[in-house]
Amino acid sequence: MDRICKLWINGQEVAVDPERKLIDILRRDLRLKSVKDGCSEGACGTCTVIIDGKATKACVQKAGRLEGKHIVTVEGLSPREKDVFVYAFGEVGAVQCGFCIPGMVMCGKALIDVNPTPTRLDITAAIRNNICRCTGYKKIIDGIALAAELLRDDKPIPVVGGYRGVGEHCQRVNVKTKVLGTGKYTDDLDDVDLPGMCYGSAIRSAYPRAVVKAIHTEKAKALPGVVCVLTAEDIPGSVKVGHLKVDWDTLIPVGTTTHYLGDAIVMVAAETPEILAEAKKLVDIEYEELPPLTCAAEALAEGAPLVHPSAGTNILAHEHLIRGDADAVIAASKYKVTHHFETPWTEHAFLELECAVAMPFDDGVFIYSSDQGIYDTRRETALMLGLPEEKVVVENCFVGGGFGGKEDVTVQHLAALVAYVSKRICKVKLTRQESILIHPKRHQFSMDLTTACDEQGKLTAMKLVAVTDNGAYASLGGPVLQRACTHAAGPYNY
Ligand code: FES
Ligand code: FES
Repeated sequence: MDRICKLWINGQEVAVDPERKLIDILRRDLRLKSVKDGCSEGACGTCTVIIDGKATKACVQKAGRLEGKHIVTVEGLSPREKDVFVYAFGEVGAVQCGFCIPGMVMCGKALIDVNPTPTRLDITAAIRNNICRCTGYKKIIDGIALAAELLRDDKPIPVVGGYRGVGEHCQRVNVKTKVLGTGKYTDDLDDVDLPGMCYGSAIRSAYPRAVVKAIHTEKAKALPGVVCVLTAEDIPGSVKVGHLKVDWDTLIPVGTTTHYLGDAIVMVAAETPEILAEAKKLVDIEYEELPPLTCAAEALAEGAPLVHPSAGTNILAHEHLIRGDADAVIAASKYKVTHHFETPWTEHAFLELECAVAMPFDDGVFIYSSDQGIYDTRRETALMLGLPEEKVVVENCFVGGGFGGKEDVTVQHLAALVAYVSKRICKVKLTRQESILIHPKRHQFSMDLTTACDEQGKLTAMKLVAVTDNGAYASLGGPVLQRACTHAAGPYNY
C-alpha cells in the first residue's frame, strides 16, 4: 500500500490502506467478529460500530474517510458494559438467532452514552437503521432500556440462576456469546482458524432460461492464485441433488437448459476474495437464450415448454382435498361470497447470509454450515460426490435465521465440491443479491375462494381452488401445497 491512514480501533492505533472497507479491516485483519456482515451494502445494520460516538455501518465506510477517528466494536466495551448488555438482553429475551444483536448493542451504547435516560421512542429511533428478523423490536428496546437503567444507576447485575424449573423464566444458554459476538457463525471461520482456506463462488446464469452452449475456463484457470475452476463435468457423483425430489442441478451441464437466474454453471475458487472476483470475470459462457416462463399461468398454458423435460409436465404436485359436498352446500346456502386472492412470494430475509466451509476429511468431506437440516445436506452432498453418507460430516455453526429459507443446499455442496476435488479448505458465502436470487421464497398463491353461510351467519361451506408458483425447482413445494389446502378453511367450524 502506497498511502496509509491511521485509525483508533478499540483504543489501539492501526495503520491501514485507505482504500479498504472498514468492515474488512475489522473482520478480516483484526478478527473483530462481533461486526457481522449481513449485506455489505448498508441495508441491515449488523455491522454497526461506533465511530467518534455515532452508531455507523462499517460496511459502507472506506478507511480513508476515517483518518484519526475512534472506532469501537462490542469487543471494545468495558467489562461492566459487556456484563450489563449480556444480562439485559438475556433477561428480557431479546436474543434469538443473535446475528443482529451486536449491532443493536452498539446502537444502544451510542445512545446511552449521550442520553442515559432514553425513552422508548429514543431507543426506537436509535435502532431504526438496524433490522432484526427473529426477535422483533419490542424486546430489543426492553433490553436497551434495562441496560440504560443498570448503567445509569450503577446497579449491580443480578445473579442469573441456571435452571429455574419448567415454566419459569430463564435466560437462553448462549446469550453471552451472541450478545458479545464471540459465538461462531460459519462466516466467522477464517484462515487463522483454518489455515490454507480458499474462497469459492459460483458463476450464475445470465438468463432465466437458456441453453448453455459452451464454457471457456482457460483464462480463469491461468490466473495466478486461482485454485480451481469446476464445471458439471468435474462432479464425481450425481449432478442433480434435491431435498425431496432430485431435480436441482449443482452446476448446469453444457448442452442443457438453465431453469432460473440462480442456476450455478461454473464454480471458481481462489486464494483470496479479490482474486476470486477477478477470475469469475475471465470465465466465458456461451448461451442460446430461450423465452422464460415467469409465472404459473405461463407454465400451465397449452404448448408451454417444460421447465424440467424429464418430468413430462410443469405441474409439480396436485392436491385434492374433499370433506363433504361443498358445491351442494354452497348452492343451498342463503349467502355466498366469492373472491379472487393473490399473495406475493415473500423473501425470508434471514440476516445471516448462506455460508459454508468445507474441507477434505477421511476420504470425504467435513462441512461447517448454517443449516436448517444437516442430515439433508449430508445426504445431498454424498449423492453429489458419489460417496457413502458416512464420508460426509456436517456440523452446524450458529444459524443466523432461516425461517424455512435455508432448507435446500445452496453453498454447502459447492464448498464440498471444491474441497473434495482440489483437496483444499474452501469457504463459499453468498452475497445478499445472490441469496435473494437463489433460495426459494414463501410461495406465491392465486386463490379463488367461495365461502357460504346460513341466515344466522353460521359458516356452512368453503371451496378453494389454488394455484401456487413453485419456482424453478421442487424444493419443499409439494408439502407447502398440501398445507395450504389443509389450512385453507382456518380454525372455523363449517
Ligand atoms: S448494513 Fe453493513 S452488513 Fe448490512
Ligand atoms: S435475533 Fe435479530 S435477526 Fe435473529
